[in-house]
Order: sequence, then structure tokens, then C-alpha cells
Amino acid sequence: MEIIHSSKEIQNRMIAARAEGKRIGFVPTMGALHTGHIALAEKVRPDCDILVLSIFVNPLQFGPSEDLDKYPRTLESDAEKAQAAGVDIIFAPSPREMYPQGFETTVSCGSITTRLEGAARPGHFDGVTTVVLKLFNIVQPHVSVFGQKDAQQVLVIRRMVEDLSIPVELDILPTVRESDGLAMSSRNAYLTSEERLQGPIIQRGLLDAQEAWNRGERNAEQLRKIVLNCYAQSSLMTTEYVSVADYSCVELSGEISSEVLLSVVCRTAVSQTRLIDNSIMKLLD
Ligand code: PAJ
Repeated sequence: MEIIHSSKEIQNRMIAARAEGKRIGFVPTMGALHTGHIALAEKVRPDCDILVLSIFVNPLQFGPSEDLDKYPRTLESDAEKAQAAGVDIIFAPSPREMYPQGFETTVSCGSITTRLEGAARPGHFDGVTTVVLKLFNIVQPHVSVFGQKDAQQVLVIRRMVEDLSIPVELDILPTVRESDGLAMSSRNAYLTSEERLQGPIIQRGLLDAQEAWNRGERNAEQLRKIVLNCYAQSSLMTTEYVSVADYSCVELSGEISSEVLLSVVCRTAVSQTRLIDNSIMKLLD
């Protein structure tokens, strides 16, 4: 496995690989790799000849008071994990390599980016789409895999790929969880041991709502209340939002007749960690 820092170098390599008929698979990440990231690489590995994983803590997608500076950067151990997962090339550019002096372009995907995570983190999705399109142009993948853990990110990237006719297939991996149900995240490293013990409650709320949904509950307010009641039991977490929305991330009210994206954000009391999770509630009939 190689680690490449230069975008020109990897782009030239990928152009040559494409010309030889090689199929390129791509996993974009911000590093601090955990089992969820590795599962993305393993999912796409059989579907490509060359597997590229990028590691770039993208400053554009962090707000001014967010955790850009303390976000874990662990390239050495990431490289070991990526190699074991069958990654061929790690692309690890510096911020200056991605955003040289004079960089001014923003990719923005419209109304969906102003809702939910976009409302809580203004500008976040513009940062995501700008870097992901740039990474796509550098790596030129045939297939790229993303995690359902960041459900709205998937919807935004789908919008971008469709709207801009980007020639890449998207593959989506279900959320990978710790054995107690907490969704894996690089940010879990921030949790205190007491906060970590309460982590499973986030999925518990989603499962409670799913059970109610399966029993026929279709009232949006009721479903929200079920999740909020569950989170009220946690002494170390406050709920930032519980959203019952459609696939455009528009909040639903009253009786629901469509499939639902249930997404939640909790903030822990001590380490102030922002934990996100979601589930899709499908129509059974
Ligand atoms: P990052 O948070 O490092 O996540 C990289 C990819 O891993 C994303 O597609 C994310 O959804 C997926 N992922 C994270 N935790 C997961 C889990 N528990 N189960 C399944 N997949 C999981 O998302 C980003 O980085 C950035 O926004 C990025 C797309 C790289 C652009 O900067």
C-alpha cells in the first residue's frame, strides 16, 4: 500500500489506471479510522481493481466553534488498518494541497443542505460537497462508498451526483455499531467513560420509535415524543434535535403516509460531544 500526498500525482495515476481499464473504488474519510470506515473499504474491495481511501480533515465543513483543531489525526495507525482492509492507496493531502492560495469555489446543493444538520451546522454541507466533488475529480472513481450513519450526507451527495451528472456509482453501507448499539464514530473517542456507558440510549430511542412504527403508529409528533421520552432518561445527554422527516429532510407533521428518515442528535454533558444517529422507517404495506 502507498500513501500519496500530491493530488496531481494521484490524479495522473488514476487517469493511467482508467486508460488500462482498471475499475477504481473510493472511500473518502477524515481518518481516525474505526471498524465502520474499514467496513466501507471491505464492501467496495471486491467491486474494484484499485481501492483508494482518502484521509483529509476538511476545514471547510467545520464551523468556527467546532472541533477542527482537536479532531483526531492518526495517520500511522490508520495506514495499518487500511492496509489490512485491502486498500491500495491512501490519499492524504494537506489543507494547502486541497485549498491552495486563491481557492474560491463552493459547491452547494440547495434546500436540503439548509435543513437538519445544515440548520444546526450552517455551511457544513457546502464544505462536504466541495471537498467530495474535488476528491472525485482527483481520484476519478467508478464507485464510491458512503455510510448510512450520515444519512443526510448521503442524500446531499446523491443530489450532487444526480444534478451535476457526475459519472460515479454510489454504494451505501448500513451503520456499523459497537456491540452495545452505539454507532461507531471517530468522535466517540471524546466521550468520558460515564458518557460512553450511556451511549446505547441513542439507538434505544430509535428502536422504541421503530417498534411503535411497526405497531402502526404513524403520527409524527407521537414518534418524536417516544424518542424524546427515551432520551429524557439520560442524565449525561441533552437532545439537540429529533427529526421525523421525508427524504428531502422536510419535517413531517400529523399522520405520515411516506417513508421516514428519523434522525437524532444528542450532546453529552461533560465532553460536549455531538453524537448523531438515524434510522429509516419503511412502509410495510
Ligand atoms: P468521516 O466522518 O470520516 O466518515 C467517512 C465515511 O464513513 C462516511 O461515508 C461516513 O458516513 C462513514 N461512517 C462513519 N461512521 C460510520 C459507521 N458507524 N457506520 C458506517 N459508516 C460510517 O463523513 C465524512 O468523514 C466526511 O464528511 C467526508 C465524506 C470524508 C468529506 O469530508
